[in-house]
Amino acid sequence: MNRPILVMYFKICGFLGAWTRSKRPQSPLNDADWPANLAIGGGLHYEGHTPGGDSRSLTSERLSMARRKKIYEGKAKTLYEGPEPGTIVQYFKDDATAFNAEKHDIIEGKGVLNNILSEFFMLGLGQIGVPTHFLKRLNMREQLVRSCEIVPLEIIVRNYAAGTLSKRLGIDEGTQLPRPIVEYCYKDDALGDPLVSEEHIAAFGWASQQDMDDILSLALRVNDFLSGVFLAVGIRLVDFKIEIGRVYEGDFQRLVVADEISPDSCRLWDIKTGEKLDKDVFRRDLGSLTDAYSEVARRLGVMPNNPPTPGKPTLVN
Ligand SMILES: Nc1ncnc2c1ncn2[C@@H]1O[C@H](COP(=O)(O)OP(=O)(O)OP(=O)(O)O)[C@@H](O)[C@H]1O
Ligand SMILES: [Mg+2]
Repeated sequence: MNRPILVMYFKICGFLGAWTRSKRPQSPLNDADWPANLAIGGGLHYEGHTPGGDSRSLTSERLSMARRKKIYEGKAKTLYEGPEPGTIVQYFKDDATAFNAEKHDIIEGKGVLNNILSEFFMLGLGQIGVPTHFLKRLNMREQLVRSCEIVPLEIIVRNYAAGTLSKRLGIDEGTQLPRPIVEYCYKDDALGDPLVSEEHIAAFGWASQQDMDDILSLALRVNDFLSGVFLAVGIRLVDFKIEIGRVYEGDFQRLVVADEISPDSCRLWDIKTGEKLDKDVFRRDLGSLTDAYSEVARRLGVMPNNPPTPGKPTLVN
């Protein structure tokens, strides 16, 4: 390409990038605060974790995003067709909802924090051999994931009594459970995601017995991993919810951790003070949700103001 054409090309890329950004919700935690090639530094970080990629690949991704197709708009995320077959772009919104969307608000910066936190946990799981849908983070609010057939269950793992378990069974919030308890809810907003038993799951064909064995094992591995990561930064993992997806590889199906792992889907309490650092801050009007999520991100070393850490990263600072 000769020079004037090249200059024109980069001008068009710049204009389209700016236009795409201008169409997105603005927040103090926007792309400008967070260089595309920022290495994650600070507390906990993983080997080979260099999110974002270089700015040229981001520009070309933004170009293709301008004409991509929306697949689904949920309460917290929007899904778009990805650049390759079998891929999806997850866009993390700032919307916060609770009580089956009866309570709703826009919390500036929440989507940015959940995007980076979910990336952090999915990468960590990948490194201990737990398969996930995560492929790469594209920018401040979007990540590329493998498209899955979502098992229509919310898998909840509880280490301490809280929320609906405390309400249903009259157990004080914060009571340590004798062992992790795994619960299943049928994913159906209209029904309020009701609690179901393995009998229901088998009878209605939502998952096979083999799937359920694999789901239980995945859920407990995720629990051990997350509990350890949070413990290292003074946070108690009270409970969390995951979703599992099926990916097909030839004739085989594989189960992977899908959706997101973030303070939206975990209950997190400061170990010393008991301060809540998760979506209960929003559910129960306990203060600033952004401050709570930022504190989690800061402790884990994934906030943008942490300097990149050179050398061989480890799980412990
Ligand atoms: N890798 C994936 N492939 C396909 N669908 C996915 C994948 N990861 C997550 N999803 C689905 O994308 C949607 C994410 O959007 P969001 O979390 O906003 O939904 P929601 O409003 O909470 O609804 P839901 O009750 O279905 O979670 C969810 O329905 C989730 O099951
Ligand atoms: Mg959801």
